[in-house]
Amino acid sequence: MSAIFTKIRLQLSKQYPRYSWLRPWLSACNFVIVRTNGDRFIEFELSNICNARCVFCPYPEMLKSDKKFTHMQADTLEKVKQMMESFKGVLVSFTPTTGDTLLHPEWDRYMKEIMTLKSVNRATMFTNAIELDTEACKRLLAVLEADKGGKMSQLYFSVGGYDKETYKALYQVDRFEKVVSNIRHFIKVLHQKGKSIGVHIHIKLTTGAKEDLDKAIKLFNPDAYPFVYFSHSHQYFSNDTYKRNVLLDYYPSESTDTSKACAYLKKTRFAADGGVWADGCVISEMPGDHSLRLGNVDSGLKMIEQERTRIIQDWEQKGVKPMPCRGCTMYRT
Ligand SMILES: C[S@@+](CC[C@H](N)C(=O)[O-])C[C@H]1O[C@@H](n2cnc3c(N)ncnc32)[C@H](O)[C@@H]1O
Ligand code: SF4
Repeated sequence: MSAIFTKIRLQLSKQYPRYSWLRPWLSACNFVIVRTNGDRFIEFELSNICNARCVFCPYPEMLKSDKKFTHMQADTLEKVKQMMESFKGVLVSFTPTTGDTLLHPEWDRYMKEIMTLKSVNRATMFTNAIELDTEACKRLLAVLEADKGGKMSQLYFSVGGYDKETYKALYQVDRFEKVVSNIRHFIKVLHQKGKSIGVHIHIKLTTGAKEDLDKAIKLFNPDAYPFVYFSHSHQYFSNDTYKRNVLLDYYPSESTDTSKACAYLKKTRFAADGGVWADGCVISEMPGDHSLRLGNVDSGLKMIEQERTRIIQDWEQKGVKPMPCRGCTMYRT
């Protein structure tokens, strides 16, 4: 279904600069596209290095482990591209498990190369936008312009609260003003150029903080670009290993029947260091743990899939869950 809506959106967006009445139809396409997953979901991690230390993220703890912090290298990209040739209709999310894509020196070239692959139907990305300065903004626009198939369905920006104090408390770095001005500028350019790409701004909140949509609009989208969507995080994901923070509220622990393995184990993460992992959600790798690692870019898809099957069978037949999945509040059937 998403492939059809991607094609419809591409045709409508070509007409949009002349016919502004197409706005609600484009918004409807954006809505459908982001809510229907492809057959295969790939988390593509260009860099596992981050420029923030969010208190809700495992990254600060990860820094204390012996994990290798790196950007994806060119030979790894080539191997991933080869592996992806045998996939069909994939959705690629340029979102590291922990890290930020825009820190990779060649993030735009890597994104373009992956997005032109025939096997890729759709793409999306999450970034904290700290690096989205005017130069990066031009590079991101060039990525969108090179995307002739309209595969990039929506861009996600993550921010902490509505003021610099909350941002600092959550992200542990002083980047609030920079992030606001980066996102505002990027949206303004999209607006001026008559683009119709969806921009989703995800605002992280501390316990008890009220969401304020008017404030969010004034801050990030004062010129009312019509394809900006906001969402707010009041609660955070965790598992048995995850270190909780007093500022935050967490989703309650699993209460559902988890005898079936989590559906996210079907996702594949191509890690920055050449590792290949199942899942790829933010808490699927805990410091020092490799239980969801399936192999690496030299392993071959057959071995990768055998390892995935073993993990799923251990869960469903022996009741042995991978460490990050124990007590995980992100579990999906
Ligand atoms: C792990 S980050 C990676 C991309 C980028 N660094 C960013 O922050 O957008 C992807 C998303 O996961 C969110 N996230 C991190 N830890 C989380 C948690 N424990 N619960 C819910 N979302 C979390 C981030 O806020 C961000 O929206
Ligand atoms: S949530 Fe994103 S920005 Fe924050 S520390 Fe984790 S990876 Fe970095």
